[in-house]
Order: sequence, then structure tokens, then C-alpha cells
Amino acid sequence: MTVLSATAPGSIDRAAQILQSGGLVAFPTETVYGLGADATNDTAVAAIYAAKGRPEFNPLIAHVADLDALSPLVRLDDRAAMLATHLWPGPLTLVLPRAPACPVSLLASAGLDTLAVRIPNHPVARALLRATGRPVVAPSANLSGKVSPTTAQHVADGLAEKVDLILAGGRCTVGLESTILDLSTPTATLLRPGAVTLEDLSALIGPVAWHGNAATDTPIAPGQLKSHYAPQLPVRLNALTATTTEAHLTFGPTLSPQSPFILSLSDTGDLTEAAANLFAHLRTADSFPCTGIAVMPIPETGLGVAINDRLRRAAEPRS
Ligand code: TXA
Ligand code: MG
Repeated sequence: MTVLSATAPGSIDRAAQILQSGGLVAFPTETVYGLGADATNDTAVAAIYAAKGRPEFNPLIAHVADLDALSPLVRLDDRAAMLATHLWPGPLTLVLPRAPACPVSLLASAGLDTLAVRIPNHPVARALLRATGRPVVAPSANLSGKVSPTTAQHVADGLAEKVDLILAGGRCTVGLESTILDLSTPTATLLRPGAVTLEDLSALIGPVAWHGNAATDTPIAPGQLKSHYAPQLPVRLNALTATTTEAHLTFGPTLSPQSPFILSLSDTGDLTEAAANLFAHLRTADSFPCTGIAVMPIPETGLGVAINDRLRRAAEPRS
């Protein structure tokens, strides 16, 4: 791990190069430090979940420098445009429908049809996003279950060996994670309170629903979101072999090479590669003329815990 002062000559360009080549960079925003990765790189996104040690794939926020960079990612309606004009850049995240050709990894959306987006208001974050020239997904730069970091030292304490570079930019001024507003439905719904208040929001776009929660930075377990992507086809777990009419998501060498619908999560049994492929393969399998999706066993270690969590949800009987 390297720590560089964000004001040291060349540090922003170096950080941008690391992101562009698939590495992880922790950087300051006005809310908390983020653990950044190229949002369009499935493997880099999977590396974030591995670094944080998350037991599930919580969807991530894609950060961009300005509205021009946002328009290829999501569909902005009038409410979003109004909020963007008045509150961005700033500590506000909007959940919006993904644009048809959205280049952001499906893993970053945890398979949802929506994407959380934010234009941060911190000079280091904005310079980094501009230099990178791609959307950057960044959860708070802490281990899963730990408190969000507001100094570079906090990041180093928790993630030292797991991040390629920490851009040190002082203490975060807001110190609380961004307000999250879901605009993917006709009713605007506050998912996470933050520095932008309910009153700020409703002054601009009218009534905002808020169902309250315990003071936590986790609004809704994403697996419980109704819109959470579930395959149309039934999913069968721990399937060493598939029938001839099933799609087979394989992990390691395939044991049913006769199956016409094999989708390899990872030939070599690499969990990061499997996580990177998971949501895209589930969608592809759904598009096949199959009777179901059979999935080979995935070891319950490291990222395998999150992969299995997601697969168990996908396999649950649906009404
Ligand atoms: O202030 C912040 O928002 C910081 C800085 C780094 O930008 N980031 C942050 O990310 O707090 P994270 O991953 O720790 O929290 C993001 C929250 C998660 O609880 C996730 O469930 C929710 O946003 N989220 C992300 N995408 C979502 C989506 N499509 N629908 C609903 N919730 C979403
Ligand atoms: Mg967090």
C-alpha cells in the first residue's frame, strides 16, 4: 500500500492510472473516504467486495465529475434534473433507472435495474474523477461492519494491505455518508438520511417518503428490495451436472461437457472472476431457451460467501 498526499505533484494522475488499470484507490470525498474502482471493470468491482469482506453484494454508488459524465449511465427525470441543478456537486446520491447502454458493471448494481449516482463536492475527488475519465464506484473505505473512515489514517488502519493507493486529503468535512434518495419509482423515497435533509429535498421536488430506520448507514438490505433482479428461470444450487435443458453455471472444470448451455463463472475456480461474471451470466442464462439454471457448488470462503448469498436469494421460490 502507498499513501500519497493528494497535493503532491503527479499524485492525481498516478491514482487515475491505477484506477484505469483495474486497481483500488482510496480517496477523500466531502462525506467520507471512498474505496474506488473503475465502475466499468467487472473484475475491479469484484475486488472491492473482496477488499471490504462483505458477506453480500450491496450495490455501489457510481461517482462522476459532472452531468455530462452522468447522462450515459442513468435516465434523469425532471425531479433528478431539479435536484442536480441545486444540490450537486454535494452529499446527495440519487438512485435512478440504468440507461439502456449503461457501461457500469452489473455487479456494481448488484443485478438491479437501477444505479446509485453521485457528483461529489471535494476538490480531490473531482480532480481524480476528471483524470480517470470513467465512472468510479466507491463504497465507504472501511471493512464491512466497521465505521466509515473520515481520515486517510482510518483507511490505512482498516484496509492497509487491500488497497493499492490511498490519496490523503485531510479530514472529510461532512463526516456522514451521503443522503440517498430513490427516484426509480413515481414516489421519491429517502433511503438514507444525510447532510441533505428531507426538507431540502421536498422544497425542490415536493413530498418525499421516508419510512425511518435505526440510525445506520445501511438503508435497505438490497436483497430485500422488491426490484432486486431475480432470474425468470428457476435456479438449482450445488448442481455438479446439468440436464440437457438446463443452463449450467460452472465453477472450475465442467463435469457435464455435453450441456449445450454452459456459462463458466471461472474455469480456474477463481472467486473474484466468478463474482465479476455472476450477474451477467444469470441474465444471459435467462435469455437461453432453457428450463432452469443449474449452478455448480461455490466454496463458502472469501467472496464465495457473497456469491452464495446472492445465489440462494436467486434460488428462493417466487410467487
Ligand atoms: O457518502 C457516500 O455515499 C460514500 C462516499 C464514498 O461517496 N459512499 C458510501 O457508499 O457510503 P456505501 O457503499 O458505503 O453505501 C452505499 C449505500 C448502500 O447501503 C447501498 O445499499 C445503497 O447505497 N445503494 C447503492 N445502490 C443502490 C441501489 N441501486 N438501490 C438502492 N440502494 C442502493
Ligand atoms: Mg458504507
